[in-house]
Parts: sequence; C-alpha cells; structure tokens
Amino acid sequence: MSAENAGRLLLGFPDYSESAQKLARAAGLDFAEIQVHRFPDGESLVRLPERLPEHVFICRSLNQPNEKLVELVLAASTSRKLGATKVALVAPYLGYMRQDMAFCPGEAVSQQIVGNLLANLFDALITVDPHLHRVHRIEDAVPAPFALALTATDAMSDYLGDKLQNPMLLGPDEESQQWVSAIAQQNRLEFHVASKLRFGDSDVTVSLPDADYRGRHIVLVDDVISTGRTIESAIAALKPHQPGSITVMATHALFAGDALARLKNAGADDIWSTDSISHSTNRIGLAAVLAPAISGLWGS
Ligand code: R5P
Repeated sequence: MSAENAGRLLLGFPDYSESAQKLARAAGLDFAEIQVHRFPDGESLVRLPERLPEHVFICRSLNQPNEKLVELVLAASTSRKLGATKVALVAPYLGYMRQDMAFCPGEAVSQQIVGNLLANLFDALITVDPHLHRVHRIEDAVPAPFALALTATDAMSDYLGDKLQNPMLLGPDEESQQWVSAIAQQNRLEFHVASKLRFGDSDVTVSLPDADYRGRHIVLVDDVISTGRTIESAIAALKPHQPGSITVMATHALFAGDALARLKNAGADDIWSTDSISHSTNRIGLAAVLAPAISGLWGS
C-alpha cells in the first residue's frame, strides 16, 4: 500500500472475496473481509475491523440482492461508527435496476427505491454496465453525491482479441447494440443486432437480421444472462444457418436456475463472462476497469 492510500481500505464480503481482493491489489489498497454470521432465523450479523480509516470502499456485487442489501445497510452504518468519514459502494453488478417503472398499477418502482436507499447509505457508487433502460443516467437511478457507471466493453474486446478467426458479433436485442457495437468497433469486426420479443420471464423469441452466418464464428454479446432464454433463443435462430461456432460473451453472469445447462444444450461452444458476479464462466477480470475509478475518488 502506498503512503497516499494509508487512509483508505477496501472491505469485501465472503461471497465476492476473491474478486474484491484482486481489486484491492489493483488499486493499491489494503483489504479486509467483513465477517457475516447468519442466525438460524435468517437474520445477519456483520462484523467489520474494529477501527477504520477515513475512506472505506465496500465491494459487493448485488446479484441475489435481498439479504445483501440488508447486510450493506448494516456495514455502511457501522463503517461510519467505526471512524469512516466517506463510504463508497463498489458494486460491479448493481441489482434492482431493471424495474424502472410500474408496469402494472400498484407495482413498486424498485430501481428508484433501492437507488435512494443506496444513495442515503453511501457517499459514492461505482458500478459496471448497469441495466438502465428508461432512466439513462446512473446518477438519476442512484442519486448519491457521486455515482459512476463504468463499462466492461474494453475488457471484453481485449479478451476477445484474436481468439476467433474473423468473428461476427451479434446482439440479441436492441438494448445490446451499445455493447456489441463498442466491442465490434474496438476490434474492427462485423456486427449485427437481432430483435427480441419477451412474453414472460422464460418466454422469449429472438429474430435474426439478414446476414450470412454460415461458417462464421458468431459471438453473442449481452449485458445480462439471467434465465438464459434470450441467448438460448438466439442460438436456436442461428443453428439452421450452420455457423462455424457460437460463443457467448456476457457482462453479468446471473445464470438463474438451469440457465447454464440450457445454453450448453442449445449449442453454445464457449461461454465467457466478466467477474462482476462470481461464476464458473468468469474469464474477464474487472479489477483493471474498477481500480482507476477507486484511485481517483476523494483525491487519494
Ligand atoms: C435485456 O434487455 C437484457 O439485456 C438481457 O437480454 C436480459 O436481461 C437477459 O435475460 P434472460 O437471460 O432472462 O433472457
């Protein structure tokens, strides 16, 4: 740890400890793990180091977010009691961003409510490719004094590199255009964007645009894989065109239920994800993406 980082510490939770430690190393910060005890009734006890420096970065990805949010409330409040004057949340995956409006009367607008909760708890938020749709700016979703949304597309482009011969990138829906085009442009690759109709959580149809897919190495790019149905449907649409191979590249590997098995069964030859969520498909580390943002915060 360098002298200018003496008043700064990165805290991680056991569920994301390995990536949090990599991040601490990349940012030149000391690391400590927050201890979590789950009582038999489901309540959580969190324990932080006894004394904290002025600036504390709590790193936790908010997949499976319900218990994690309560534990973040406990950890952020306790950080201040233990001496931190500024507390940041580094959430490589930020949950609850998709429900940005009430689709039916009476529904909670989760993005706004969870965003306000985090903004009240933390002085800063750093995240990666949050799923923002109708609300476009992270600071509108999480109105903390400082909120920054980084992108994983450079790291994904670098990882893709020349692994495949003249690949063709394909986004499964309109929203994916931003990521697929960024990766394609960096590597000067052909890309296309499909259209998607979603009828329910697990009911998705993807229609491909006209292109010559035969024999090509296709890389399907999306921000989130949750049920896997979007990518599964895209693979099903591609198969009759006899592509040379199908690789899936995603930022946030939620992989709910049997999603991973479904994609393998559908014919995905390879699946690569970033480590925004710890998962067996992780190939692309985000420490180098996140570390400069941490280093630049609060004038280290
Ligand atoms: C939606 O717009 C997102 O970009 C993803 O395509 C979607 O969240 C993937 O969900 P699933 O894996 O459940 O189809």
